[in-house]
This record gives sequence, structure tokens and C-alpha cells, in this order.
Amino acid sequence: MRDYKAFVEQSIIDLQKQIGSERVICGLSGGVDSAVTAALVAKAVGDRLTCIFVNTGLMRKGEIESVAKVFNENFDSKLIVVEAEDRFLAKLAGVTDPQLKRKIVGKEFIDVFAEEAAKVDGAAFLAQGTIYPDIVESGGTPDKPASLIKFHHNVGGLPDDLEFKLVEPLRDLYKEDVRQVGRELGLPQEIIERHPFPGPGLSVRCLGEVTKEKLDTLREADAVVREEIRKAGLYNDISQAFAVILPIQSVGIRNGERAYESTIVVRCISTGDFVTASWTHVPFETLETISKRITAEVPGVNRVVYDITAKPPATIEWE
Ligand code: XMP
Repeated sequence: MRDYKAFVEQSIIDLQKQIGSERVICGLSGGVDSAVTAALVAKAVGDRLTCIFVNTGLMRKGEIESVAKVFNENFDSKLIVVEAEDRFLAKLAGVTDPQLKRKIVGKEFIDVFAEEAAKVDGAAFLAQGTIYPDIVESGGTPDKPASLIKFHHNVGGLPDDLEFKLVEPLRDLYKEDVRQVGRELGLPQEIIERHPFPGPGLSVRCLGEVTKEKLDTLREADAVVREEIRKAGLYNDISQAFAVILPIQSVGIRNGERAYESTIVVRCISTGDFVTASWTHVPFETLETISKRITAEVPGVNRVVYDITAKPPATIEWE
């Protein structure tokens, strides 16, 4: 087991040496890796760090507010929130292929991020939340510079002409170490224990074409799933809990009339490594509450199903 206090102290010294008196930018995703990276860099260089959060329109309900709140309460640096929903949705219009969705979201993310980064005066460094498994999964080795691996893994690769020097203070750590470092830095539990969320966001949980209307429906349903899982005290026993919206309508009864409305899938999985996973045996009472609330509170949804498939043969995400 590592001495996390010593790790934090040494990282701050190393970062200060590496960065000198230059400015740094860091992309925040809402996840633990980028938050811990930003917190470490902020400790080292204070207000010479600027964080950038891109609202892709593919985030979950409350995500932007939660990132901004955690940031304002814990950081001494500047946060730029880029509103880019229209750009992402325009590029995704009519696209149904999951891999193409990933490519589009990845490319658009880079374009938006690069545009914003270029506006940050005098920024010479880019801080990335690359962790050890990212390097291994991307075919890298610990001693090879992990240049751009995290972005590559998550959203499709940064262009070569983005002229920043990289800082990757977490590149030797596993996820659990990153959480411990986050605790050491005093980040809130809410960030440290967060379930992973894929880079392409809700685009791969909105099966078929991605539209604003479907995303809004999905966001509401997903918020109910997460809220009820937390209320039942299950959040930390589950590895990922989320909703998916299907591209089909099925018949139901609304106000005494036949109505064709959407179907929401609830997916809760338990895993150690995310390579294999089992579906979580969420108590029926919790599933019942989730189903009742979604069909009552989310307009346009008349059916809720629970995914009881392990990985393999299924994957965790539906796309
Ligand atoms: P699957 O669906 O492949 O998911 O069983 C395994 C883990 O990876 C996440 N995931 C992604 N993360 N970009 C990401 O950053 C992606 O395109 C992507 N696809 C899946 C998924 O949420 C799970 O944690």
C-alpha cells in the first residue's frame, strides 16, 4: 500500500519543477481521474491552472452543476464551461452507428477543446488524467511517454498540432490509488466514488438516432435510477447503474387510451475489472420503485425493463 500523503507531496514538488512559471490547462470530464489530476495541479500551480469543461449535451442530469459546485468549493483555479450542445447534436443528427457516434463525439470534442485551449493566454502545458490501465489498454508501456493516450482511449485522439507539453501526474496509478489520492486531497466522496461514465456520454445510451428529445427523456429516467439506487444504499455496491433508451415504441395505456411510448432499460452491473461483469441483483422493491417513478414522472415512457445479462456475452453499454 502506498503512502498517499507522500505521493501528494512529491507530486506537487515534481509538478512545480516541471511546469515552472508556465500556465496549464486541464479538461474536466466530471470523472475521478480528471478531478484528481486538476486538484493536484491546482495545489502545485494555483491560479495558473485553467480547467475546461465541455458541455456536449450528452451529459447526465445535474452533471454540469455538480462539476461546477465541486470545482468552486475545492479549487483555486479558473473553470471555463463551454456550451457546445448544438454543435454536437448537429453533427450527430441522423447517425445510428455506435462506432460512428464515438468518432463524431471524439472529433467534435477535440475541436471544441482545442478552440477553447487556444483562447487561454500563454498556456504551455496540458494536464491529463491518464492512469496506468489507460497506458496498458492503449498498448503503451510504462516507460514510453503516454502522450495523448487518455484522450485517444476516451474520445479518439488529439491532433499532433495541439502544441502543449503534457503533464500526467497519475500515470503510474491504478484507479483505487487515484481514489485514495483524491481522499488525501480532500475531494468530496461524490467525486471519488463516482461510477465510470463513457467518453461518448449518453450518445451510446440513446440507441438509434440521438435527438434532444430522446436525450432529455433518457436524462430524466437515468436520474431516477441513480437517485433510487443511492436511496436504497446500493450505490457503492454497484459498479455502474444507468438507464438506456430504446429506439422502439410499445403499446400501453395512458389516460384510458392506447398509447405508443418509449421503453427504458435499467442496467446495474457488478464487476472488479469491467472486462467481465454480472448483472446486479437489485432488490425487487427498488426496481419496482424505479419503474413506477419513471413511468409516472418521465413523459413519453410507458415501459421499463431490467437487463439481466452478464458480460460476456453482452457488454456493459448497449452500444
Ligand atoms: P463495455 O460496454 O465495453 O464497457 O462492456 C466497459 C467499460 O467501458 C466503458 N465504455 C467506454 N468508456 N469510451 C469510454 O471512455 C467509450 O467509448 C466506452 N464504451 C464503453 C463502459 O461504460 C464500461 O465502464
